[in-house]
Amino acid sequence: MVAVRRVPEVPLLGGTANRGQVFRVGDTVRRPSQSSAPAVHALLRHLADRGFDGAPRPLGTDEQGREMLTYVEGTAVVEPYPEWALTDAALVSVAELLRDYHRAAAGFDAAGWSWGRTPPAPFVGGLVTHNDPNLDNVVFRDGRAVALIDFDLASPGCVLWDVTCAARLWVPLRPERYVRDSRRGRLRERLRMFVDAYGLTAAERALLPEAALANHHWCYDTVRVAAARGHPAFSAYWTVRARVRADACFRWLAEQGPQLRAALG
Ligand SMILES: Nc1ncnc2c1ncn2[C@@H]1O[C@H](COP(=O)(O)OP(=O)(O)O)[C@@H](O)[C@H]1O
Ligand SMILES: [Mg+2]
Repeated sequence: MVAVRRVPEVPLLGGTANRGQVFRVGDTVRRPSQSSAPAVHALLRHLADRGFDGAPRPLGTDEQGREMLTYVEGTAVVEPYPEWALTDAALVSVAELLRDYHRAAAGFDAAGWSWGRTPPAPFVGGLVTHNDPNLDNVVFRDGRAVALIDFDLASPGCVLWDVTCAARLWVPLRPERYVRDSRRGRLRERLRMFVDAYGLTAAERALLPEAALANHHWCYDTVRVAAARGHPAFSAYWTVRARVRADACFRWLAEQGPQLRAALG
């Protein structure tokens, strides 16, 4: 009799939306299939056809109905955040990865596909943006960001929307009291570094402080709605402390408009 060796399922930690439901199986990743999966897989196929290797490749659906993707070798930035992920070099590499993703995604026709939640109307455009470039959705190798993962929230957006979201999370744009590492005291400098590395236009820079408020609201709305519906991981995250912090960050972004504008040049 031939023994059939089952490839073990190794849980992958990092995100909140699908916590406990993402597994590595050999060279593949299995995760719950969203209603937007056909659209996302079409996007990922387009990226692969363009030779862009900064995203997983789609492999279809497994026998349990889960989406299958290639496993990207490297390390996603999960808490507690390692110092190498908080360096200026890491920040610059995220901006460059996002720029390269946008260039590769630019020719993709989003029409006719069913996407997830779209950004607010002023930020909807023809470019399919990632919309969730959180630290745990970026894979690094040797201190450099090499791939975006978790395209569940991808939908037609615009450059400013994705860059603003990434800057908010990676610079990060929040009161200094919530920054307890080497990035403290350097937020404006790092914001400038990020938009310069991306190559954001002057017109887009002028709109970034406003976009940051809209983006903060949109992202926390996802959390609020999921928690209200009883999503276990989002409910556990959305404590009084988290809400106080989210409100404080929003107020800070509103107050910091002139300073952010000055830093953006
Ligand atoms: N294609 C992939 N290649 C490598 N690691 C992955 C891949 N997909 C997910 N992971 C790992 O699994 C973690 C959780 O996956 P993710 O799909 O982002 O879940 P969630 O939807 O909960 O955010 C990520 O933070 C990363 O560490
Ligand atoms: Mg994720």
